[in-house]
Amino acid sequence: MVFSQKEIKSPRWTLIEINVICVISIVLIFGSLAECNLDYLAINCRKHSAVLTDFGGVGDGKTSNTKAFNTAITKLSQYANDGGAQLIVPPGKWLTGSFNLTSHFTLFLQKGAVILGSQDESQWPQLPPLPSYGRGRDAPGPRFSSLIFGTHLTDVIITGNNGTIDGQGSYWWDKFHNKQLKITRPYMIEILYSDQIQISNLTLINSPSWFVHPTYSSNIIIKGLTILAPVDSPNTDGIDPDSSTNVRIEDNYIVSGDDCIAIKSGWDQYGIKFGKPSKQIIIRRLTCISPDSAMIALGSEMSGGIENVRVEDVTAINTESAVRIKSAVGRGGYVKDIFVKGVKLNTILRYVFWLTGSYGDHPDNGFDPKALPKITGIIFRDVIAKNVTVAGQLEGISNDPFTGICISNVTIELSELKKKKKLPWNCTDVSGVTSNVVPKPCDLLSEKKIECPFPTDKLAIEDVQFKTCNIKSSVF
Ligand SMILES: *[C@@H]1O[C@H](CO)[C@@H](O)[C@H](O)[C@H]1NC(C)=O
Ligand SMILES: *[C@@H]1O[C@H](CO)[C@@H](O)[C@H](O)[C@H]1NC(C)=O
Ligand SMILES: *[C@@H]1O[C@H](CO)[C@@H](O)[C@H](O)[C@H]1NC(C)=O
Ligand SMILES: *[C@@H]1O[C@H](CO)[C@@H](O)[C@H](O)[C@H]1NC(C)=O
Ligand SMILES: *[C@@H]1O[C@H](CO)[C@@H](O)[C@H](O)[C@H]1NC(C)=O
Ligand SMILES: *[C@@H]1O[C@H](CO)[C@@H](O)[C@H](O)[C@H]1NC(C)=O
Repeated sequence: MVFSQKEIKSPRWTLIEINVICVISIVLIFGSLAECNLDYLAINCRKHSAVLTDFGGVGDGKTSNTKAFNTAITKLSQYANDGGAQLIVPPGKWLTGSFNLTSHFTLFLQKGAVILGSQDESQWPQLPPLPSYGRGRDAPGPRFSSLIFGTHLTDVIITGNNGTIDGQGSYWWDKFHNKQLKITRPYMIEILYSDQIQISNLTLINSPSWFVHPTYSSNIIIKGLTILAPVDSPNTDGIDPDSSTNVRIEDNYIVSGDDCIAIKSGWDQYGIKFGKPSKQIIIRRLTCISPDSAMIALGSEMSGGIENVRVEDVTAINTESAVRIKSAVGRGGYVKDIFVKGVKLNTILRYVFWLTGSYGDHPDNGFDPKALPKITGIIFRDVIAKNVTVAGQLEGISNDPFTGICISNVTIELSELKKKKKLPWNCTDVSGVTSNVVPKPCDLLSEKKIECPFPTDKLAIEDVQFKTCNIKSSVF
C-alpha cells in the first residue's frame, strides 16, 4: 500500500500543471502514463509517500473518506522514525469528517483537490473543552473535534499546490443562528501541544467556526493561505494562535466574518490557572477584509498573557478596525510589547486604533473581579488610513489604565460623512505619547518629537529556512 517516493504509480492522471514537470512515457500495455514531479517548500521533506486512493479514498464528493484518512495516517505513522511520510490528496472532492494527524508527516493537497467537511455529526468525535477555556466557546461542556486535528505532535505539515479545504460551514452557522448548538462547533484545523508546524499554500473556505487554531504549541509557520468566509458568517476567525510561542504568519489573504487574525491565551480563571502565554509572534504581509471585526485582534481571551508581537506590512480594506486589543475585568493576564509598523488601511468602518477594557464575555460567573489585565507597551507607527469613521477609541479600565502607548507617523483621512459629527479620538484611562499623528490625538496621549520603536532583532522562527521537497506521482 505504501510506496517509497520512486515507486508511486497510479493508473489515473487528469491534468498536467505548468509548474509540474512531467515525462510522458509510453507504457506498452496500458497506453500512456505521465510521471510528474512537483517541487514544494517545507520545513522537512519526507522519505515515504502515498496517495489517499491507496487507502480506499473516493473523490466523488459523496462517499465518506473519514476511514480512508484515518487508515492512511495510522499506516503512515509507522514511518515517523524512518524519514517520515507524506499523504497526497489528488484532484477530486474528498468528503470527510474529523481525522487526526501524526508526527513527521505532510498532508499535501494537489491543485484541484478539495477536502469537504462532512455535515453528518456522527463523523465528528467529541473532545473535552480546552483546559485554558474551561468550556466550549459556543456552549458549556465538550466540543466537536476539528476537521483536521492533531495533538502532541512533532513536525507536521499541511500544504499543497493551492488545494482547497471547504468546511461546508453553512450547516453549522445555521445551527448557531438558530441556537440549536448543544456543543461547540468544530474548527477547521486545530493542533494542540505540538512543535514544528507548517500550514501553507492552501485555500481554506467556509469553516464551521475558527479556521486555523494552533494551541499550546511552538515553532509554527502559517504562510500563503487564502482564507475565505462570507463576511456575515459567525466566528469565522482566520488564524488564531492560542497560548503558542514562536509563530510566523506571513503572505496570507483573509476575508472573514470575524477577526482575520486573533491572538489568544485562555479565558478568565481557566486561562489564568493554565498560565500559558502567546509570545514571539510575527505577522507580516497580511491582507484582510472583515467589515464586522478586526484585522488583528489581541484577545479577548488573553488571560495567559500576550507579549512580544510584531506586525509589519499589513493591509486592511473594508474592515471594522485595524489592530485591536480586547480585554475585561476578570481576565487577568497581560498584553505587552506589541509593535505594529507599516499599516495601510482603506475604509475602516469604526476605529483605526481600538483598545477595549470592557469586553465582558465571561465563561461563567466564577471569574475573579479583582483579576485586572495589565496592558502596556502598545506601539504603532507608519500608518496610512483612508475613509475612516473614527480615528481612535482608547478605553482602559478605571484604576487599571492602559499604559506605554506610543503612536507615531500616522495619517488618517476621516470620511466626509463623519468628519463634522464625531470626535476623531475618544480616550479614557490610557497614557502614552504620540508624534506626527493626524488628526490630532486626545490629550491623554502627550505629544513628543519621537519615532516609536520597532525591534531590530529577529525572532528565532524568522530564521527557519524551507527545504525544497518533491512529489513524484502520475496523479496530477
Ligand atoms: C483523535 O485524537 C483524539 C484526541 O486524542 C481522540 O480522542 C480520537 O479518538 C482520535 N481519533 C481517531 C480516529 O483516532
Ligand atoms: C507556495 O506559495 C509560494 C508563495 O507564497 C510560491 O512561491 C510557491 O511556488 C508555492 N508552492 C507551491 C507548491 O505551490
Ligand atoms: C489559490 O486559489 C485561490 C482561490 O481560487 C485564489 O484566489 C488564489 O489567488 C490562489 N493562490 C495562488 C497563489 O495561486
Ligand atoms: C511614515 O510612514 C510612511 C508609511 O506610512 C513611510 O513611508 C515613511 O517612511 C514614514 N516616515 C518616517 C519618517 O518613518
Ligand atoms: C467609504 O466608507 C463608506 C462606509 O463608511 C463606504 O460606504 C464608501 O463606499 C467608502 N468610500 C470609498 C471611496 O471607499
Ligand atoms: C467615549 O468612550 C466612552 C467609553 O470609554 C464611552 O462611554 C463614550 O460614549 C464615548 N464617547 C463618544 C463620543 O464616543
